[in-house]
Amino acid sequence: MENRKFTVSSFLKAKKSNEKISMLTAYDYSMAKLLDEAGVDSLLVGDSLGMVILGYENTLQVTVDDIIHHCKAVSRGVKRSMVIGDMPFLSYHINVEESVRNAGRLVQEGGAHAVKLEGGREVIDKIKAIVNAQIPVIGHLGLTPQSVNILGGFKIQGKDEKQARKIIEDALMLQDAGVFAIVLECVPEMLAKIISEKLQIPTIGIGAGKHCDGQVLVTQDMLGMYTDFVPKFVKQYLNLCGSIKESTKKYIEEIKEGKFPANEHSFSIDDETLRKLY
Ligand code: KIV
Repeated sequence: MENRKFTVSSFLKAKKSNEKISMLTAYDYSMAKLLDEAGVDSLLVGDSLGMVILGYENTLQVTVDDIIHHCKAVSRGVKRSMVIGDMPFLSYHINVEESVRNAGRLVQEGGAHAVKLEGGREVIDKIKAIVNAQIPVIGHLGLTPQSVNILGGFKIQGKDEKQARKIIEDALMLQDAGVFAIVLECVPEMLAKIISEKLQIPTIGIGAGKHCDGQVLVTQDMLGMYTDFVPKFVKQYLNLCGSIKESTKKYIEEIKEGKFPANEHSFSIDDETLRKLY
């Protein structure tokens, strides 16, 4: 792993040299620091924070202020990874001006290096304007969770020819509009392969198989610490839920038994001062 900062050109260079890009979500300082130190190329302050951090049913209630708040914390923890701020529902749907302003806030206030937004042809004008404002943009196609009510649930996309062709066309349109990468979520592996081969910019897959140019997972899924809903595409590299519950049980037990805190966790006072206090 190089120590140099991972930038937009690193994304493009990785695509050219066939090096896979790693991305994870992050929402707070201490986790961002750990993931950055472990060498992840980019950290997405995803609107998934609505579900995994704030406990909402979906991502629709997340606001620009929420993302900025978490972006600030993540940016403070990062030395090398590229921080991407996710544009939440309604922050780029009203008009071009609002979209640019909101993208700008993620950069200016949140410290994000780039933004991500969902959708294809219907958001092209917003993407062009944000790129024109010198803000790097990542696209997001396939299962776009902000459209959950239109899609009728969190379902795989692009299974039939019409849908698949639309996703391919949208990917090419996003590339022409100036995005520097595209997240492909929950699409068949071979569709992701076709798209990855057609594009000059990298694809970052989540539930899109091994042919994408990079992969992203929600960190809480990857570490096994969010179990409300575990999609098929998640690989749990750790069972943090188990470890956290076990450690917490031990902590409670030791408090009850008077084993914690022990001498090494306590502060002393000299005997003479102590005597005066009695
Ligand atoms: O919000 C998010 O975390 C995302 C990723 C899962 C791609 O959009």
